[in-house]
Amino acid sequence: MNTLDVMGISPVVPVVVVEQVEDAVPLAKALRDGGVSVIELTLRSDVALAAIAAIAAEVPEVVVGAGTVLSPRDAESSIAAGARFLVSPGSPRDLLDAAHGWSVPWLPGVSTATEAMNVADAGHTEMKFFPAAYSGGAAALGALADPLPNLTFCPTGGISPANVADYLRLANVACVGGSWLTPRKMVSERNWSAITDLARVASALRGVD
Ligand code: 3PG
Repeated sequence: MNTLDVMGISPVVPVVVVEQVEDAVPLAKALRDGGVSVIELTLRSDVALAAIAAIAAEVPEVVVGAGTVLSPRDAESSIAAGARFLVSPGSPRDLLDAAHGWSVPWLPGVSTATEAMNVADAGHTEMKFFPAAYSGGAAALGALADPLPNLTFCPTGGISPANVADYLRLANVACVGGSWLTPRKMVSERNWSAITDLARVASALRGVD
């Protein structure tokens, strides 16, 4: 599975924080039941790696990746846990160098044309645009398409049902990322059916073909 394959699974990649490891499998199943078979599970809790491992083992039809990958060590432990892709908020040199040795796709983060060009120079044509809504939003990202036509983005950060269509209609956007499919309150209350409902709406979103 290459990076574009991962980006093509769902128009919205849920950006998820799991605080209780036993929530990981029912959460993944809830998203899957709503038609979302990809999860960016962020390394923002002590149980994140165990949650990735649980989903990889028990819900293999859902492609689970690691988000908030800040160091080569984060990347290696995520891959060892079963992550099938990696996402980072930025694209520092140590990650760009280490990425050559990783066995799974990686979405490095960028928010400017210069960063996108540096990432492209390192061999990556797909990247995360972050934090999207605060870096000029869909207008800024769309403006990168003419000078940088070979690059494809997953904008994330400040995207919601109110503005998601603005991003998905862009020619240089394959998917968006967002945390709105798995609100913390719904997860803590284990309201899996509500998450399935949110996923169902998100999975039906499409760009303008
Ligand atoms: C991320 O890590 O990509 C963001 O935290 C997700 O942003 P959102 O919470 O604004 O969707």
